[in-house]
Amino acid sequence: MSAHPSTEAAGDPTDPAAVIAAEDRLVAHNYRPLPVVVARGEGVWVEDVRGNRYLDLLAGYSALNFGHRHPALVEAAHRQLDTLTLTSRAFHNDRLAAFAAGLAELTGLDVTLPMNTGAEAVESAIKIARKWAYEVKGVPRDRARIVVAADNFHGRTTTIVGFSTDPVAHDGFGPYAPGFTVVPYNDLPALEAALDDTTAAVLIEPIQGEAGVIVPDDGYLRGVREATRRAGVLFAADEIQSGLGRTGRTLALDHEGVRPDLLLLGKALGGGLVPVSAVVGTREVMAVLRPGEHGSTFGGNPLSAAIGTAVINLLATGEYQERAERLGKVLAAGLGRLTGRGVLRHRGRGLWAGIDIDPAIGTGRQLSERLMARGLLVKDTHGSTIRIAPPLTIEEEELTGALDILGEVLAEGS
Ligand SMILES: Cc1ncc(COP(=O)(O)O)c(C=O)c1O
Repeated sequence: MSAHPSTEAAGDPTDPAAVIAAEDRLVAHNYRPLPVVVARGEGVWVEDVRGNRYLDLLAGYSALNFGHRHPALVEAAHRQLDTLTLTSRAFHNDRLAAFAAGLAELTGLDVTLPMNTGAEAVESAIKIARKWAYEVKGVPRDRARIVVAADNFHGRTTTIVGFSTDPVAHDGFGPYAPGFTVVPYNDLPALEAALDDTTAAVLIEPIQGEAGVIVPDDGYLRGVREATRRAGVLFAADEIQSGLGRTGRTLALDHEGVRPDLLLLGKALGGGLVPVSAVVGTREVMAVLRPGEHGSTFGGNPLSAAIGTAVINLLATGEYQERAERLGKVLAAGLGRLTGRGVLRHRGRGLWAGIDIDPAIGTGRQLSERLMARGLLVKDTHGSTIRIAPPLTIEEEELTGALDILGEVLAEGS
C-alpha cells in the first residue's frame, strides 16, 4: 500500500480533468458543478488549479457575503482555533453567550438556538412551532399544521423536501411528513384562508432565492405579519439566504419594518468558514424548548460562536448593508440596460438578482459555462434563469466589468 492511497486515486490535483474525473467516480452525483476546479480564494476572486482567476458572482449561495477569507473572520477563527474549538453543549463555553447577545442586538429578538446548517435551523423552527402550538396555543396533539409557500426552498431533509413543490427536490423521497399546507407565494388572501385553529406557523422566505430571486409585492411581508398576529399563528421567516446584508438591510424583513416570531439564519452567519445557523426567537416562543428536547453536538461550539460573533461585528458597522444597497442599484441599472438585449426580465433586491435569459440564447447552464470561460462564476437555476449574488465586498468597477462581460456574452447570441 502506498503512503497516500487516497491521493493516488484522486489523480493529479493540479490537472482539472483528472480532478473532475476522480470526483465523477468517487463523489455522489447530487450536484452538477461547472467544470472549474477552484484551489484558492481571496475576497471576491477565486483561482483555479491552473492559476486562472474568476470573479465569484455566486458567493457560496450567499454564504460568502464577506468574500473569501475576510481577514477579520480568519483572524477570529485563528484565535479561537488556538484556544478551544468544541465542548458540546454538555458544558458551557465562554463564547456562546456573546454570540447570542450579538444576534439579539442585530435582530431585535431575544433568544438563540444555535445550529449548524440551514436545513437544521428550519427543522428546529418546525419543532419549536409545533411545540408552541401544543403548549401555548392549545392545538390538539399531533394536529399542528405549518403553512408554507409554493416554490419554497428550505433545505434537503426528508421533512423539508416533503413540502417542496419542485419535483426534482421532492419526488422519489417519500413517504413525506404530514402537517404542511402549501399556498401560493405573494398571495395574502390565500395565506389568510389557510390559517385556522390548528395552524402553528407560517414559514416563508421573505425573498425566494432558489426559485429565482422572487421578490414579493410591497406590503406582502407586513401583511403576513398582521395576518399571523390576528390568527394567533407564529411567523417564521427563513432569512438563511436573504439575511445578513444581502438585500441592502440586515434582514430582508427590515425593508418592511417587520419582526417575525422566529428568524432563521445560516449561510453568511458562518462567514464562509464554517457552517453556522441559528433560530432566533422571542423569549416566550423559545421557552417551549426544555433540556433534552432538542440539540446538536456541534451547534453553538466555540469556534462557530467566535466566527459568528465576528460576522455580527462586521454587520454592526452597517458598511455591508450600505454597499449592498448602493451597488445593488448599479447591478439593477446594468441589468436594465441589458433588458431586451438577451435579458428578458430581472428581479432582485440589493446585491442579489435573478435574471431570465432569452431561451433562444441558451439555457442558464450554457450561459453559465460561457461566462465561466470569460472569468465569471454564476449559477443557473430553473431553465434559463441565472442569479447573481456577489460578495458584498465587491468593488463598483468589478461589478460594472462583470456586467460588461455579461452584455458581450449575451450579444454573441446562441
Ligand atoms: C432560504 C434557504 N433556507 C434553507 C436553506 C438550506 O441551507 P443548508 O444548505 O445550509 O442546509 C437554503 C439553502 O440554499 C436556503 O436558501
